[in-house]
Parts: sequence; C-alpha cells; structure tokens
Amino acid sequence: MKEEVQHIKQLSKEQFEELLHVSELLNSAAYEESLMEQALDWVIGVINAERGLFVKYNEADNSFSIISARNVGKESIANLSEFSSGVLQQVVQNKKPLLYHDAQTNPNVSQFVSIQLQKIKSVIGVPIVRNEQIWGVILADSQSNRKEFTETNLIFLHFFSNLVSLALDKISRLEHLQNENQILLNKLDAIEQLPDIVGESKSIRELATLIHKVARTDATVLILGESGTGKDLVAQAIHKLSSRKEKPFLAQFCGSIPDNLLESELFGYKKGAFTGANADKKGLLEVADKGTFFLDEIADISPALQAKLLRVLENREIIRLGDTQTKKIDVRILAATNKDLPQLVKEGKFREDLFYRLNIFPLTLPPLRERREDIGLLANFFIRKFGNTSAHLSTSALQKLERFQFPGNIRQLVNIIQRALILCDGEKISDEHIILEERKDALDFQGTLEEFEMRLLKKRLEEFNGNKTQTAASLGVSVRWIQLKLKEEREQG
Ligand SMILES: Nc1ncnc2c1ncn2[C@@H]1O[C@H](COP(=O)(O)OP(=O)(O)OP(=O)(O)O)[C@@H](O)[C@H]1O
Ligand SMILES: [Mg+2]
Repeated sequence: MKEEVQHIKQLSKEQFEELLHVSELLNSAAYEESLMEQALDWVIGVINAERGLFVKYNEADNSFSIISARNVGKESIANLSEFSSGVLQQVVQNKKPLLYHDAQTNPNVSQFVSIQLQKIKSVIGVPIVRNEQIWGVILADSQSNRKEFTETNLIFLHFFSNLVSLALDKISRLEHLQNENQILLNKLDAIEQLPDIVGESKSIRELATLIHKVARTDATVLILGESGTGKDLVAQAIHKLSSRKEKPFLAQFCGSIPDNLLESELFGYKKGAFTGANADKKGLLEVADKGTFFLDEIADISPALQAKLLRVLENREIIRLGDTQTKKIDVRILAATNKDLPQLVKEGKFREDLFYRLNIFPLTLPPLRERREDIGLLANFFIRKFGNTSAHLSTSALQKLERFQFPGNIRQLVNIIQRALILCDGEKISDEHIILEERKDALDFQGTLEEFEMRLLKKRLEEFNGNKTQTAASLGVSVRWIQLKLKEEREQG
C-alpha cells in the first residue's frame, strides 16, 4: 500500500487528469454493460491499442465468455482463440494487471499462438476483482504500437480496475434494489387491486374493470347504489388506484349537517367570518390539494351550497367563508348518493347543472340480493376479518343467508355475521346463529283491517308533523275522513 501511495505521488499531471476522467466516467455509469464498454474504451485509449475485449470469467470451468469487444471482426468475436487466452489465464492467476511490450520476443507471452498469428506487439490484461474473486478481464492489444510502459502505468491500471469493481458493486446493488422495488410494487398492486372489495359475481367484476379504467383519469365519478353496497369502499379504491394515491384522500359526509358548518368544513373561513372564527382556517377541499375529495351523500346539500360546489366542479375554485378572493385548487372529485338524483332534479331539489357536472362517469353498485353468489364469499371474508379463523358456516346457515333479501346490503351482512360469531362460540355457525332482521312488512301485520288503518294513519300524521291536509293527500282520503277516524278512536278509547 505504502508503495502504491509512493507511486501515486509520482503521477504526472496528465495521469491525474486521466484518473479524474475515468472516475467521472465510472461514477456516471448506471448499467453494467455501459460501464464495461466505457472502461474498455478507456483502456484501449491509454495503451494506444487497436483492439479491446471484455470477458466474464467463469470460475467453475475456468472459461471466459465475451461481454463486449472493440474493433474485433464480428465473425471472430465468438472465437476467443484469436485473442490471447494465454494472457487471460495469466491475469486470472496473478489477479493483477499484466502488461507486455515486444510481445513477439517477450518470453512470458511469445509462446502463445495468437500473439504470433496476430503479430501482437503489446498486450494488456486488467482483472476486475469483486469480493476477492475474478469477475472478468479487460484485454487490449496492438499490432503497431510497442510504446514503453512503466511500473506506474501498471499501478495506475490496478487502481483503475479497483474503481471499476467499486462502480460495478454500486450498479449491481442499485439494479438489485430497482428489481426488488419493482417486484414489491407489483405485489402491492396485486394486493391493492381493489382494496377489500370482495366479490366474484359478474356485476362486481364488471364494476372492477370500470373502476380500474376510470381511476387512471381525473374524471369526476358519481357513485350510486343503495345504502351499504360499498360506495365508500369504491371511492377509496378509485383513489388508491389513481396517480393521486400518494396524495391525500379526504371525505366529507354531506347529509344532515347544518349548512354553515358544512360550508366552513369544505371551504374554510377567514378570521372574523362569523362569531368564533378567531383565525383563518383552510377548508378540507384545500387540504386535499393534489389528492382526491369524496363528497359523500351529495343529494342532501342545500341549494346555496350546491351553487358553491358547482364553482368547484367548473373552475376548481373555492372562496373561503368571509373572503372575497378565489383560490385555485387541484382535487379530483368523487361523489356518492343512495338517492335518485334525476328524480330530485325533476322535483327541483337538486340543481340540474350540478347533476350534469357530477354525472360524468356514474358507477352503480348492485344491491347484494342481485349478486347472491357473493354472499358466501363475503360472509367468509368477514368471519376472517373479525379474527376468527376456526369458525365456519354450515350449509344451512349459508342457505339461510343466500335466501335473504338484505335491504341493508353488505353492511347488514356484516352485522349478521358479527352477531353469529358471538352466538356460535367460535366454531360452527349454524342457521340458528343467523339472526335476520326481517323488515316488518305491511303484509305481515297480524291485526284487523281497522287496527291497521289506524296505525297507518297515526304513522302518517307523525311524518307530517300532525298536518292533516298533507296526511290526507298522501293517503288519498279527505281531511274530514281523518277527523272522523280520530273522533271514533277517542270515543272508543
Ligand atoms: N365488496 C365488498 N367487500 C368487502 N366489504 C365490503 C364490500 N362492500 C362493502 N363492504 C363493507 O360493507 C360496509 C358498508 O359499505 P360502505 O360503507 O362502503 O357502504 P355505502 O354504500 O357507502 O353505504 P351508505 O350509503 O350507507 O353510506 C363496510 O363495512 C364495507 O367495508
Ligand atoms: Mg357511505
């Protein structure tokens, strides 16, 4: 080592420049092959050679395979015999660069057939050592040049081969990491194909295809379907499958929330916008910048807010409460409802322009009763999800589930399974553990017609806050009829 340092001290300015050049070259190489080609060119340049070869060494059978070559006839590349395999062997044995001038007369190499045949005057071999093993050899030779080389040149080359091997290490580590990364990303994709959306029925598979397609775009998606069919889940899936997946996914439930509260949540406010607004506050739409925003239960928002949302959808602009400045936002909008939006538009309760802005890509989730083949799959999924690995459904339990209407869809199935898991003591879930909440159907009523009439009337009155005119209209009777009935009941009761 000391000796090498000594030699390096004696390097000329040109040699240092050369060294700088080569270290830059090695540092910038990003692929094994390009690195080796550049290294090969460099060596050829340094010894003023005409031909160059880079071979990989196979220790198992002490053989060489060609990786790249310079100025070697295509036809002879495959044939190493033209190149001095004797010199290659010497490099492998010595594990350090070897350099021969006057090759024709040099006793170390003159005996090799190729040296004689090709009339080689000088030849150099540089080993590439990795983990103390010979990984490959760079070989270059010249028929015309017999320029003198010094000991310093050899040290220089040794130094060079060490640099190459360091660069190779770096590259192969990087390549390994890149591959691993690719594999992991792929796996992740497979796992997250549709986050937790279980189902193999035709309708769910078609839905999955649509979700994948639309997720890649920035289009507004309107997610429709009965309560409990998985609208929230689909919204999350769209985000996770989109290019915005690293950015925030924010959701706001818009149903039954006082208007001003919802507005300040969505749009934020300026200090002093209302009592209690002590500082400026960002709205959720701003917080979701570059991400996805999910407007859940969109049908319930007030006309005033509908107008403000229209501006968001049209211009991607918001105004904080109490502010005059508009702000640009970059969010993808998803919206969901279990209501019949076109009907609400017809009734004048939902802005038509807003509806069209939302309805760019509608996705309708099927009710569970229309994909009964998924019931067993989902039931088992939830059994496992609640951490119970040993419990299983009996045939009769499954049949009972498959016959049920599921007005509450998957959410209802979740409840039923949770209940069954408590009742079954963790083993077999049989049909008596499946407690179905049958909705009380009007036709199931056991009493008399008169009793039924009275119950229905009272229920309706309650719904219309005691307003007899409206109640009468909804029942298709006269107000007088209602008064009469109520009077009768008072007299009887
Ligand atoms: N395909 C599915 N696979 C697994 N779980 C599901 C699936 N669809 C829905 N779920 C589960 O069912 C429940 C209800 O789903 P979700 O909340 O998404 O319904 P929703 O359509 O948004 O209902 P609502 O209209 O009442 O808001 C959740 O617990 C959800 O995880
Ligand atoms: Mg929901």
